[in-house]
Amino acid sequence: MSGDRQIILVTGGAGFIGSNYVSWLLDQNTVSEVRVFDKLTYSGNRENLRRFEGDRRYRFIQGDICDAAAVADAIEGCDAVVNFAAETHVDRSLLEPASFIETNVHGTWVLLEAVRQFPSTRMVQVSTDEVYGAVLDGRSVESDPLHPRNPYSASKAGAEMMAIAYHETHGVDVVITRGSNTYGPFQYPEKFIPLMITNVMEGQAIPVYGDGLQVRHWIHAEDHCSGIHTALLRGESGEVYNIGSDEEHTNLHVARTVVDLLGGSDDLITHVTDRPGHDRRYALSSDKLRSLGWSPKWEFDSGIAATVEWYRQNENWWRAIRDARFTEYYQANYGHRQTRQTDRE
Ligand code: NAD
Ligand code: DAU
Repeated sequence: MSGDRQIILVTGGAGFIGSNYVSWLLDQNTVSEVRVFDKLTYSGNRENLRRFEGDRRYRFIQGDICDAAAVADAIEGCDAVVNFAAETHVDRSLLEPASFIETNVHGTWVLLEAVRQFPSTRMVQVSTDEVYGAVLDGRSVESDPLHPRNPYSASKAGAEMMAIAYHETHGVDVVITRGSNTYGPFQYPEKFIPLMITNVMEGQAIPVYGDGLQVRHWIHAEDHCSGIHTALLRGESGEVYNIGSDEEHTNLHVARTVVDLLGGSDDLITHVTDRPGHDRRYALSSDKLRSLGWSPKWEFDSGIAATVEWYRQNENWWRAIRDARFTEYYQANYGHRQTRQTDRE
């Protein structure tokens, strides 16, 4: 796909990474139109894109990627489709898996069928490092076998398989990215980092699953977005690209960092009953994407400090979504867990 003046359809563009991608694209000023197509589920929020309303390059369409007619209308004239639309929270996939299968597998298939009608349109399927399953040593490379271990990651692996099948059988121009744990502005506060920040700001305990020694690679949303765009512009059709930062930390380390940045007490860190099937470690090699000229810009220490500051400056944004619906989810996910305070290991 050539570089400039493209029309890009961003499905799931009102969510966390999708809205960061829309901002990143429009700030770069190299595209002629960004068309957001989003169902606005609990995690989709038009406030994330409010500053672009009135911008002639930006258009918002409310719709479901499972709705073939709506997708066909939205895709008309687009040079690329970048699919962020998904159910994304592992804990919710343990409580209510149906929507994960519906949106992540069926919805991706609907998009592929639509893209198939437009041979010059490229699709990026935004996937996750979770499809590799737990990686106790070393780093996952793109040719590794997939071992998803929870309903969310299984649904994302299913979507990937469908994308590859459409590439192989119908010649659909598709590239897959597998990103690692992402943090930054506009992340719905169910995920670990924004949950901790907003809990500490409310003086509430922060729930750490099990011993808290699980390891994740953390990448800033801006770096994840530039990685996705690199894959869109320079990736080879039918190929997969990991997007990771090389910075791995235990959850406990991340929890202590957040508490320190907010001037809270370590006593807020509370170990709670572990997530069933909790993957102990994810780790990615991103050499393949780096060979296309991409590299992350943020270090974790400065990225997390900037993120904490963003939540401090944008209390209205997160207080509005920590509403009754959020409280109901919080009770369902955490209400039954046993707790113990950190033993400062
Ligand atoms: P998010 O939950 O913040 O946003 C998901 C968006 O998709 C929301 O705006 C929601 O309204 C929309 N959506 C859901 N179902 C839809 C449907 N049927 N039709 C249209 N829109 C729908 O998620 P996120 O964290 O921004 O994740 C975006 C993508 O990146 C997902 O595909 C996810 O699997 C992937 N990913 C996320 C991370 C991470 O750490 N957050 C890491 C790697 C990959
Ligand atoms: O790795 C990429 C994935 O990262 C994405 O594909 C998913 O969409 C995204 O949700 C995220 O999945 P995780 O399960 O890794 O993220 P989460 O923020 O839920 O949890 C991060 C780590 O923190 C994980 O080891 C579980 C732990 N955790 C999480 C929550 C919500 C806790 O200890 N306590 C919590 O309350």
